[in-house]
Amino acid sequence: MSLELTWLGHSGFLLHGRSATVAIDPFLTGNPVAPFGADAVTCHAIAVTHGHDDHLGDTAAIAKRTGATVFGSWEICTYLGEQGVERTEPGNVGGKIAAPWGWVAFTPAFHSSSSGGRYLGQPMGVVVHLEGTTVYHCGDTGLFSDLKLMGELYRPDVAMIPIGDRFTMGAELATRAAEWIGAKVAIPIHYDTWPPIAQDVTRFAPKGVRVLVPKPGARVALPHG
Ligand code: NI
Ligand code: MN
Repeated sequence: MSLELTWLGHSGFLLHGRSATVAIDPFLTGNPVAPFGADAVTCHAIAVTHGHDDHLGDTAAIAKRTGATVFGSWEICTYLGEQGVERTEPGNVGGKIAAPWGWVAFTPAFHSSSSGGRYLGQPMGVVVHLEGTTVYHCGDTGLFSDLKLMGELYRPDVAMIPIGDRFTMGAELATRAAEWIGAKVAIPIHYDTWPPIAQDVTRFAPKGVRVLVPKPGARVALPHG
């Protein structure tokens, strides 16, 4: 086992491989549960699920400072390019993009994607493969039955699943999602950041799946893929 991860609170993660660190939805500025500021993030790549501020977050600033390559929708990559981000890998639902350290695939998500009224393409989930471990971050989504298919297609070792309700699945539906996806480990995300998405995390209780609730900022090891 060599992949470790750090939860940034809300929906953000750092995946630490030997050869690369990959961020997903790095939202730190304005995140009340962020363990540190965006300036503390060093990474080689950033995968973005959709354009909402609590996901796109500090992507532009981190990419410009570190030179990280951003994987996201065509529209998000175009938007970031306008802001001076030099390295982007645009994609869309169903696609897979090779990286020097592994690959990123984009999956469907039932949600929306915009920033300041600008349409930013399809909302998506991202599958990141790094260090022989496959991580499926569902993005923001409601429950849909193809989550089961995503589990079959990608066989993720770890799934990050939103449970906060209101804008995404709540804990009961997310429990169903985790059972369908079938990853050995599920990490609940997108809850308790603000009062409208307060949630009792113990209600996220998928059968046959280990629920991992990392402390924001703490680097934890994942089981082997
Ligand atoms: Ni959203
Ligand atoms: Mn969100």
